[in-house]
Amino acid sequence: MRVIAGPTSTVLSRRVAELLHSRIVDVESKVFPDGESYVRLTAPIRGEGVAVIQTLSRPQDASIIQLLQLVSAAEEHGAMKVTAVVPYFAYARQDKRFLEGEAVTAGLLARLIKEAGADAFMTVDAHSVDSMKGFDMPVTNIDASPVISEKLLEMKLNGASVVAPDVGALDRARSLAGFMKGEAFSMRKSRDRTTGKIVMADVDFDVAGKSVVIFDDVISTGGTVTECIKILRRHNPSRIVVACVHALMVGKALDRIVAAGSEEIISTDTLPSTVKTVSV
Ligand code: R5P
Repeated sequence: MRVIAGPTSTVLSRRVAELLHSRIVDVESKVFPDGESYVRLTAPIRGEGVAVIQTLSRPQDASIIQLLQLVSAAEEHGAMKVTAVVPYFAYARQDKRFLEGEAVTAGLLARLIKEAGADAFMTVDAHSVDSMKGFDMPVTNIDASPVISEKLLEMKLNGASVVAPDVGALDRARSLAGFMKGEAFSMRKSRDRTTGKIVMADVDFDVAGKSVVIFDDVISTGGTVTECIKILRRHNPSRIVVACVHALMVGKALDRIVAAGSEEIISTDTLPSTVKTVSV
């Protein structure tokens, strides 16, 4: 198998290629003066199975077109099988129509990836089951909990309570809690679909004197996690650590979370990150 190193995932692609003892195909990329994206495979891939590794980091829309161009280039140049490996699948939160008139963008992307020529799809901690529904091809959704738990266990957080910010994130919290030998709980969050404002209810579980790990798939503005910390702190946990899979960290997200009272923020390398990372 050859690993095609998408421009947004050059480092991760090298790590994966080393583990697989595969050869890397470097990608030449540029943006034309008018804003259009250009990519070119720098080695032949005819007859080979290829993994195109391209995370959908910001600016997401440009990352998406590069992904589609690379998958298409691989297919057009005779790859035997093309697996699109998208560590962070942007737009996964648009996995249903919340308001009339919206597009289900996660489904649209799935169709585009298929149309570009992918035979299989892989991602890390997809936002939801629904966000993967549009893929008419084999899908592998990798659980980052094992590697995240290793870091948390190094921080002596074994037995910590793992808290999901909303019910939709509870399965992910359960997976992490399993590796940490702790319990998983969920907060109850609702979001106004027009203003984006979050409302979070008080907790109905006990964290007094306990270590708590708040675990979410994505941290964007940090608003969700900050609200969780504020509420949990009223119940006197002994430690609060935040972990996420995909650290988008928009604006002052990091400062907000630290100021709210998180001892540390752990994420993975699915996205370029300003916080402590573990490698998926
Ligand atoms: C939403 O359902 C996601 O799982 C995250 O909770 C959300 O995207 C985090 O966004 P923010 O950091 O802006 O609150």
